[in-house]
Amino acid sequence: MDKANKLYIAIFASGAGSNAANLIQYFKNHDKIAIALIVCNKPEAGVLSIAADNHVPTLLIEKERFFRGDAYLPVLEQYHIDYIVLAGFLWKVPVALIQAYPQKIVNIHPALLPKYGGKGMYGAHVHTAVVANREKETGITIHMVDEIYDNGKILFQATYSLSENDTPDDVARHVHQLEYAHFPEQVEKLVVGMSRE
Ligand code: GRF
Repeated sequence: MDKANKLYIAIFASGAGSNAANLIQYFKNHDKIAIALIVCNKPEAGVLSIAADNHVPTLLIEKERFFRGDAYLPVLEQYHIDYIVLAGFLWKVPVALIQAYPQKIVNIHPALLPKYGGKGMYGAHVHTAVVANREKETGITIHMVDEIYDNGKILFQATYSLSENDTPDDVARHVHQLEYAHFPEQVEKLVVGMSRE
């Protein structure tokens, strides 16, 4: 891989990693963007085997160094990381990282922010709350990351209209489909200012 021609992305993920898999697939033969690193805080996370299967290097991080140490900045520099994409990463991003990557960290949230955002609103908790509140629609939000949780500039939203009998699992499935359909293109648009529409 010739770094001179490409922008390098690190995906931060701590879960199953289906979005990471989708992003890896999308950028596999991209001429301007490469997924250069998977960063994860859970040794048992599915995303680590997805990275291994796709020959993407991984970095397993621990709390103390991330929050009270160097935030792994030297490692990100070593991998020449230009942008950070959060895809199911639950820790708050330390200020040191936000300052080192201004307007270069993007997150995906499985709801229509500002609704169903903030502390405790992740994964199944979001979809359970959406169903319990009899919302007519939910969706995805792709947004920049700043010092405040789920607060940065919104780049993109897509909605899913709930059916009356939808369970939280049904909603999760539909929301994931929206994520797969839109996240890679939105990342591409942010990083190189284009999308294949
Ligand atoms: C996604 O729903 C994403 O919106 C949220 O965490 C979930 C990650 O799922 N931030 P996966 O690990 O990509 O399958």
